[in-house]
Amino acid sequence: MELAYLNGWLGSLEDAVVSVNDRGYNFGDGIYEVVRAYRGVMFALEEHLERLAMSAAVVEIDLPWGRAELQEITAGVLAESGIKDATVYIQVTRGTAPRDHLSGADMRPNLLVTVRHITEIDPVLYSEGIKAITMPEFRWQLCHVKSISLQASVLAKRRASRAGAVEAIFILPDGTVTEGASSNVFIVKDGVLMTHPADNRILPGVLRHFVLKVAETLNTAVKVQPYNILELKKADEVFITGTVAEIVPVINVDGKTIGNGRPGPVTAGLHKGYSALRKR
Ligand code: PDD
Repeated sequence: MELAYLNGWLGSLEDAVVSVNDRGYNFGDGIYEVVRAYRGVMFALEEHLERLAMSAAVVEIDLPWGRAELQEITAGVLAESGIKDATVYIQVTRGTAPRDHLSGADMRPNLLVTVRHITEIDPVLYSEGIKAITMPEFRWQLCHVKSISLQASVLAKRRASRAGAVEAIFILPDGTVTEGASSNVFIVKDGVLMTHPADNRILPGVLRHFVLKVAETLNTAVKVQPYNILELKKADEVFITGTVAEIVPVINVDGKTIGNGRPGPVTAGLHKGYSALRKR
């Protein structure tokens, strides 16, 4: 029988449920392995568990289970299922907590192990071969999609937090500033407001849209065009935008003071204008 193991619970696959606060569900904030079992024995489990440990280390998930324990759990679920030719799926998410990019340090990861019958591979694939197509590598270059695949953003937030910062600002290889891990970024230089154009490299933020609208009503000069990290650090003002925090001044980037190190007048004016527009 196809089985699921979830944090110590064992039952039928259909009955296994996770919280809507699971970080895998909200952020894609997890890692996994797929192991094949032949005649009731998993092949290369050690290699899979080694890769799981590597993935966990990279995304900063502390696995509370040792290698031997994971071996025991997975082998136990497989044996219990009675399935001989099986696909064993092992998934670890960062844990369960109210949605926030930065999760609490005390969170315990969730472990899911499922055992299913293998999907038979059509023998024609082996005898006749298959067709393939090529496409430009685009993983993950769809930043305009408000996707729940947020693991990179989660990691960026964690690194920012460790550096004593609140937000991480993404820079492309050529130095272009795109956006924050969970915000859009604006700079002000000599009275001109600048932000990256709304293409596939940024999320077209709703607050970003309203800031541009307010700027127009205030007759602020606006350039919606890419700018680079040097312009960012030499800006008179920098601020980030997002639905919840609205408009937040940034006074320091990578240790470099922005402007005079105090929230600037253009930022304040835009926030005031936004508040007025919102209350209308
Ligand atoms: N994030 N860019 C990214 C990558 C974001 O995740 C967000 C918002 C924004 C700003 O979008 P808006 O102005 O529509 O809120 C820009 C939300 C706040 C979040 O993930 O919690």
